[in-house]
Amino acid sequence: MSFRKDFLWGGAVAAHQLEGGWDQGGKGPSIADVMTAGDNKTHSPRRITDGILPGENYPNHEAIDFYHHYKEDIALMAEMGFKAFRTSIAWSRIFPNGDDEIPNEEGLKFYDDMFDTMHQYGIEPVITLAHFEMPYALAKKYNGFMDKRCIDFFVRYATTVFTRYKDKVKYWMTFNEINNQSANPCAHHLIQEGAILTTDDNPDNEYMMYQSGINELIASARAIIEGHKINPDFQIGCMIAMVPLYAHSCDPNDFMEMTAANHKRYWFMDVHANGFVPNYIFKYWDRKGYKIDLSEEEKEDLKNGTVDYIGWSYYMSHACAYRPENKDFDFYEDKDIVKNEYLKVSDWGWPIDPMGIRYALNYIEDRYHKPQMIVENGFGAYDKVEEDGSIDDSYRIDYLRSHIEAMRDAVNEDGVDLLGYTMWAPIDIVSASTGEMDKRYGFIYVNKNNAGEGDLSRSRKKSFFWYKKVIETNGEQL
Ligand code: BG6
Repeated sequence: MSFRKDFLWGGAVAAHQLEGGWDQGGKGPSIADVMTAGDNKTHSPRRITDGILPGENYPNHEAIDFYHHYKEDIALMAEMGFKAFRTSIAWSRIFPNGDDEIPNEEGLKFYDDMFDTMHQYGIEPVITLAHFEMPYALAKKYNGFMDKRCIDFFVRYATTVFTRYKDKVKYWMTFNEINNQSANPCAHHLIQEGAILTTDDNPDNEYMMYQSGINELIASARAIIEGHKINPDFQIGCMIAMVPLYAHSCDPNDFMEMTAANHKRYWFMDVHANGFVPNYIFKYWDRKGYKIDLSEEEKEDLKNGTVDYIGWSYYMSHACAYRPENKDFDFYEDKDIVKNEYLKVSDWGWPIDPMGIRYALNYIEDRYHKPQMIVENGFGAYDKVEEDGSIDDSYRIDYLRSHIEAMRDAVNEDGVDLLGYTMWAPIDIVSASTGEMDKRYGFIYVNKNNAGEGDLSRSRKKSFFWYKKVIETNGEQL
């Protein structure tokens, strides 16, 4: 009945969004370190600067200073009863320039201590290798994953940390939300996912997305092959941003548009799980005239380096509609996504759709028949601190409760094989899309705002005690 006994309840974060210490302990700058802060209220987007410029506000440089607070923060997660904690290794803490021959011992030691702290509390580390944090030098010098040499640098990095932590970490993921760049290949997504330095108006963005995406998939497959040699018990997954795409109506054209949209967004998952590039992608490349460099040997690696489980994030769903002038059903997020009248949205305009999580669990089960792990799901909101210091974030509890209920139905009623649920993010951190601190997800409040003011002290929100109960009862009491 219900969730498995060893269900991995916990939370997820990413190194660049909480660690800070961006230039400490021998760390080199990462692509996250050249991204400025944006602001939802004034609709100012994050900017990518050419290196680190004086006078700019780079929120990831300090973040919430987990680099110095991790013991205290992990103790708070243990207090909630966490079974798992998902974070990432900052690649440039280990290889500051990305192409270095020798890893940085101080960086390796930092993660040794962090993993030991988790194990002291019986918390299982779930580790992402690349979560929007490629060394900036690789983006600058090689144009990121457009250059095949970055595949080798990634594999060197992966094998270094696999070897070092082979007895401390069992669950791994290669690239975070590798597919987010797909249907909207703008500079922001390309620098996060592929670390390609480009501009929004570059007509080659889509071609570069496919070439660098293929190179990342090859890097992932080779890392998985090597990882299983280092420790055959490793469970190495992918990480997909699941945003189910519904047809706007039952017009068959809308359904075909939905199918094409899912192809474009989820072809990465097909490659990760099935080990080959699907025909619809080759056809698309032909139609667009994209000459993608993919050798027979690389295809063989894709085949041998499939994932052990499908990890994915879930925040929202979208609906898409057919446009009569779009006879080929090409899908672009900015043109083809339409409002879903059935759903409310968050303060950041993200549709709230609990049933979508059950739909997504079934979609993945039907397609791949592999274990799954939901490695992100959460609600970004403005929180209000009362005079007595308390924070009533019932809206966050409502969001998480409804999603966990739908997830429980997928397990109980539909029989999906779910390994765990690490919500995003147990502690307030810097938002990836906007660079804000005031877009909060945490059970633990961090006293710091968008302007960087606050003493970084931590406190428990109402949701902290709620989630503790959820874990205690293995999801029975929501
Ligand atoms: C996912 C990312 O896109 O969503 C995280 O993997 C990110 O890094 C999370 O933080 C929530 O998005 P945001 O933009 O609200 O921080």
